[in-house]
Amino acid sequence: MDKIEVTGGHCLKGEVAISGAKNAALPILASALLTDGPCVMDNVPDLMDVRTTMDLLGHLGAKVSRDKTTVTVDASGVNEPEAPYELVRKMRASVLVLGPLTARLGRARVSLPGGCAIGARPIDLHLKGLEAMGAKVLLDKGYVNVIAQRLVGAEIYLDIPTVTGTENLMMAAALAKGTTVLRNAAREPEITALADTLNAMGAQVSGAGTPVIEIIGREKLHAANATIIPDRIEAATFMAAAAITNGDVLVRGAKSAHMGAVIEKMVEAGVVVDEVPEGLRVRGPATLQSVDVKTAPFPGFATDMQAQFMVMMCLASGRSTITETIFENRFIHVSELTRLGADISIVRNSAVIKGVASLKAAPVMASDLRASACLVLAGLVAQGSTLINRVYHIDRGYESIEKKLSGLGAQIRRIR
Ligand code: UD1
Repeated sequence: MDKIEVTGGHCLKGEVAISGAKNAALPILASALLTDGPCVMDNVPDLMDVRTTMDLLGHLGAKVSRDKTTVTVDASGVNEPEAPYELVRKMRASVLVLGPLTARLGRARVSLPGGCAIGARPIDLHLKGLEAMGAKVLLDKGYVNVIAQRLVGAEIYLDIPTVTGTENLMMAAALAKGTTVLRNAAREPEITALADTLNAMGAQVSGAGTPVIEIIGREKLHAANATIIPDRIEAATFMAAAAITNGDVLVRGAKSAHMGAVIEKMVEAGVVVDEVPEGLRVRGPATLQSVDVKTAPFPGFATDMQAQFMVMMCLASGRSTITETIFENRFIHVSELTRLGADISIVRNSAVIKGVASLKAAPVMASDLRASACLVLAGLVAQGSTLINRVYHIDRGYESIEKKLSGLGAQIRRIR
């Protein structure tokens, strides 16, 4: 298994180009299942999760190919309704084929994703929504079976604005008979990106980016092209890297409209963030200030940036509280940060952080995707060489992170 070694103490300078967003690419790739022609997607990041999705689409009978950042999916031959355990266990987001498969084939059989490092993460709201649209849902031997001759539009209230749940139901509704209204829908930029793609396929989706999304079902959708939006979490991670190293980095492609809460909290912490035509220029202060953060669905502070922001607070002057409201077990990185000398205590779903003057290198273990990014950030400032084990998590969501950080002057290498 690969490891990453980071030697701390280098100030990051220069520019870094942000890749396409993983969380936009996955549902958009899955949406090709709704059509029967070649869909050409550009700016698709080369990540483990994207490869798993491409493998899954291939398994379902689609023709899938990649040429640099362009992925083509031709789902005209799709005939297999089963997403097997071997693929779903690698990536929870495989569940994104549930809606489009049901709409396209009238049935889907998808392995239940099960729990994961950051919590139980059920999919009950995805299933409730499909049932409201007339589907029969049956759980059997670890698989969820969904059957519907033709889905029927429905009024669906989501108890929680689930991101992949909203996406699954949007895709299912696009081929349903009649109109579906999703209330308390997720508002993330990736939802709007999916709606734009569905509309390019001939769907009628309105209201994406607001809590009420209306989808008028169509008999058929046609193939369309899409360009994946920049990854706001990758961008924010590089902003945090600049912030903690007293750096000066142009984060090329970062979109401020997608990152409002994170930018505001960084500015509050003393980071200088300037919007420039190419993206965001980020300058870290000599000393960061402590600020409190609470994660929330978009437009709130993204849970996917919580661990990385915590590294900033570990080094800030004063005491801060980071409260996690989305996932029940998303503080696994805390014990690893403590090994590097951070002063953090957990009280229920909050981490209370007392800033320290410096962190010191130690071997650490990555437990999930964003926790890995947090440990790489900590390694950039820790005195000595930090060895991060189990970095396969990072390859799920960050494209060439060690190359991008090296390009900014970090001392980082992958050990194979
Ligand atoms: C997506 C993102 C992930 C991000 C998360 C929250 C993708 C591929 N992944 O994950 O990176 O961290 O949003 O921003 O886009 N819930 C239920 N029942 C359900 C569905 C969700 O109780 O049926 C709960 C979850 O357990 C969690 C909360 O709702 O507590 C939000 O989860 P959700 O928005 O569904 O996250 P994902 O879509 O899995």
